Amino acid sequence: MSSGAVPIRQLDATSVGELRQAAEEILAEFGTSATSPQLLASVAEVAGNLSEPVRHELRPVDTDDGLFVLRGLEVDDSGIGPTPSSWATAGDSGAVHDIVMLLLATLMGNPIAWEGQQDGRFVHNIVPAPGHETAQTGASSSVLLSPHTEDAFHPGRAHLLMLCCLRNHDNIATTAASIRHVQLSEADVALLTRPKLAILPDDAYTEAQGFEGGEPAPVPTLFHAEGGLTLRFDPAYTPLDAASPAHRAAYERLEAELARVSRAVCLSPGEVLVVDNDLVVHGRVPFQARYDGTDRWLKRASVRVPERRTRPLAEEDEHGYGQAAIEAHAA
Ligand SMILES: [Fe+2]
Repeated sequence: MSSGAVPIRQLDATSVGELRQAAEEILAEFGTSATSPQLLASVAEVAGNLSEPVRHELRPVDTDDGLFVLRGLEVDDSGIGPTPSSWATAGDSGAVHDIVMLLLATLMGNPIAWEGQQDGRFVHNIVPAPGHETAQTGASSSVLLSPHTEDAFHPGRAHLLMLCCLRNHDNIATTAASIRHVQLSEADVALLTRPKLAILPDDAYTEAQGFEGGEPAPVPTLFHAEGGLTLRFDPAYTPLDAASPAHRAAYERLEAELARVSRAVCLSPGEVLVVDNDLVVHGRVPFQARYDGTDRWLKRASVRVPERRTRPLAEEDEHGYGQAAIEAHAA
């Protein structure tokens, strides 16, 4: 695993105070972080008035690393209460941080939610859940969460993924690997830019599992975009048997290269990892869940960037397994 430095962006104390106060005011007005059209409108308005120093730190991801860590936000470990035992019971736990995430996500683009995931909330709770230890979802713990593109199965997937750490006593690492750092032969790139492999919905989408509206569509793994290669990659949900041996071998070399350039990002409370979901695959190392209210706890937001062109046009015709992304703010 590579140990190259992760780009850091530091929020100054004034910016931190500004975000905190804005989030507390919105929370006080609505009494919940569960989103309503009114709450989302309020977030859009407040985000539009945030100061230049805050906006500057939330500028687009601007290196081939395809990520940065935003530092400075404060988390009161006793104030946030115990780590929820699953996303389903999280409710308004850490609600002020949900609103901060919505504000940050709105500065980076347009936050999205999925009807079929975590009750349609725009900010997800990532916590280990009993019974899901070996799943390939954010609720797992004892297995490696394989490096993947977030919501790779769907054409409406996020351009950016944001993970805010509220608690991480065991320093459990998130992993991140950029396609721009891998070395592949031209022949491998040529194979992997062909649409040969389907990507199935992950286990966090229970409804999509039974989708009967069409066959899984083969999609390219790599794509030539402006600025270089982008990827759409989720080996845990990709039926590799459908491809030729040569194609499979190229896919496995890509997987090995991503592992070689992968870096471990150990988030501390208050840090927000922002990854470009077209450039970077992310995962998590295995860990032993505590299930005592002190487990690792992340908040996750997904963001679409209007006008961004990093995806093959053919994606627009995909059925998306019946799932639809809901955008927070009207275009
Ligand atoms: Fe993920």
